[in-house]
Amino acid sequence: MTICFATNNPNKLREIRQLLGGQFDIKSLKDIGCQEELPETGDTLEANSLEKAQYVFDHYGVDCFADDTGLEVAYLDGAPGVYSARYAGPDRNNQSNISLLLKNLGEVDHRFAQFKTIVTLIRGGEVEQFSGVVGGEITRELQGEDGFGYDPVFRPTGYQNTFAEMSADEKNAISHRGLAIAKLVNFLKSH
Ligand code: IMP
Repeated sequence: MTICFATNNPNKLREIRQLLGGQFDIKSLKDIGCQEELPETGDTLEANSLEKAQYVFDHYGVDCFADDTGLEVAYLDGAPGVYSARYAGPDRNNQSNISLLLKNLGEVDHRFAQFKTIVTLIRGGEVEQFSGVVGGEITRELQGEDGFGYDPVFRPTGYQNTFAEMSADEKNAISHRGLAIAKLVNFLKSH
């Protein structure tokens, strides 16, 4: 079965292709000829995820799914949340985002945070949404080289390592996106 994942992020495509275990032919935006940036004008993860999937379905006529993820930090009242990618500015720089996050948290001990992903699937025009959440804490320093985004400063609850110190398989098994995608896969298999 062919389905487009509305992203060009190579890390996410690799993660998803691992999770779907060869059962689905996953096309990227580039693969379907979509060059333009997808609209993300909502102020919730649900709205943004739907907006991206709807855009691809409407303009390219292919079944697709889109994800939107936010890092919600308790001490910062849920920030950066839906604005995680542009936390430190419009250029979506991971290093600047992490620096700003560590600066805003300072030395506080209350460092609980969660990653939340909403995946929106549009198949034959029918819309379904799936969520995945993983709790953890923001470390005081960057730890690890792997992963992307905020991975070097996010340590999931019950683990010694940050996401950036885990293998892709280890992260996929417990991550926000892994959990949301697992729900998507179950849905696709049973419908
Ligand atoms: P997006 O909605 O997937 O584009 O993610 C929004 C922001 O969260 C971006 O800054 C990403 O780098 C970050 N992000 C998304 N997923 C992850 C993850 O698995 N680990 C670390 N950061 C992530």
